Amino acid sequence: MQFNDLPVTGPWGERHLLGLETLSRDQLTTILDLADYLREQTENGTRRLELLRGLVVANLFFENSTRTRTSFSLAARRLGADTVDFTASSSSLSKGETFIDTARTIEAMGVDMVICRHRTPGAPHLLAEHLTSCVLNAGDGTHEHPTQGLLDIFTIRRHLGRIEGLTVALVGDIRHSRVARSNIHGLLKLGARVIVCGPSTLIPANISRLGVEVAWDFDAILPEVDCVNLLRVQFERQRGAFFPSIAEYASLFGMNGKRIRRAKKDLLVLAPGPINRGVELTPEVADGPHSVILDQVTNGLLIRMACLSLLARERTATQAGIS
Ligand code: NCD
Repeated sequence: MQFNDLPVTGPWGERHLLGLETLSRDQLTTILDLADYLREQTENGTRRLELLRGLVVANLFFENSTRTRTSFSLAARRLGADTVDFTASSSSLSKGETFIDTARTIEAMGVDMVICRHRTPGAPHLLAEHLTSCVLNAGDGTHEHPTQGLLDIFTIRRHLGRIEGLTVALVGDIRHSRVARSNIHGLLKLGARVIVCGPSTLIPANISRLGVEVAWDFDAILPEVDCVNLLRVQFERQRGAFFPSIAEYASLFGMNGKRIRRAKKDLLVLAPGPINRGVELTPEVADGPHSVILDQVTNGLLIRMACLSLLARERTATQAGIS
């Protein structure tokens, strides 16, 4: 299969994927539609396509990751690319090399696409300014995590058939969650109603300016909600205590069997993971019929294949235009 065979009819034109805030509704739809096409072509991501043959994709992870890193690696390999993995803790960063110098060194080995996770908001944007490779943001501090937002939205669209008109609740640590921000930008552009809910200390004061509704009482909004995305409390990004105890958090904002029985019959329960059983949700919910948590992981592979393909297609077209 060649890039020209891809059924991309909508707009793209981006060199990097840094966030969902700057993408249009049509660009978001282009990615979701391509992920659907790749699902059919690869039997849910299990079969290889050779779209990225000859390209090198580097994973530059300066923060821990299980699913995002594995998923990006596998997506790149399923598309025929070579991959290199870089882990900050075992690198020359510990010998004093700067972030940019480290990235330039990796790029000089013939890398075409860089996937970057960093605890500092804006780090992938900085790389995009200094590298000639395509840069994909795999999570920058509390800012954005675009492929997670896309895979959450893709999972909702696959299960409920649409995004427009749905009511989606993002529950938990909205203040420190990059997943919340990417979901908000993507869902609002695609026409969903978004409610953010959590302890008042974990909801930024001006968040409603983005176009979301704010709720502090999970039980009050629950009957109206079509999908709930349970966001982990980001203890590693917090300075100080934002609520009295985990037990109190779980009783007010955790998803449990009692709440499921009061919700819509076909409520969709999402969680980006890692999940903390007994905090954001009980095992009964995590493993129950409303949960689509493992579907999210499978869909993540397809979304990342779609994003890599679109960026590689753009890069190849630009290079052909230049030469
Ligand atoms: C999220 C992240 O790293 O932002 N995890 C992920 O990528 N699936 C959410 C989290 O860590 O809670």
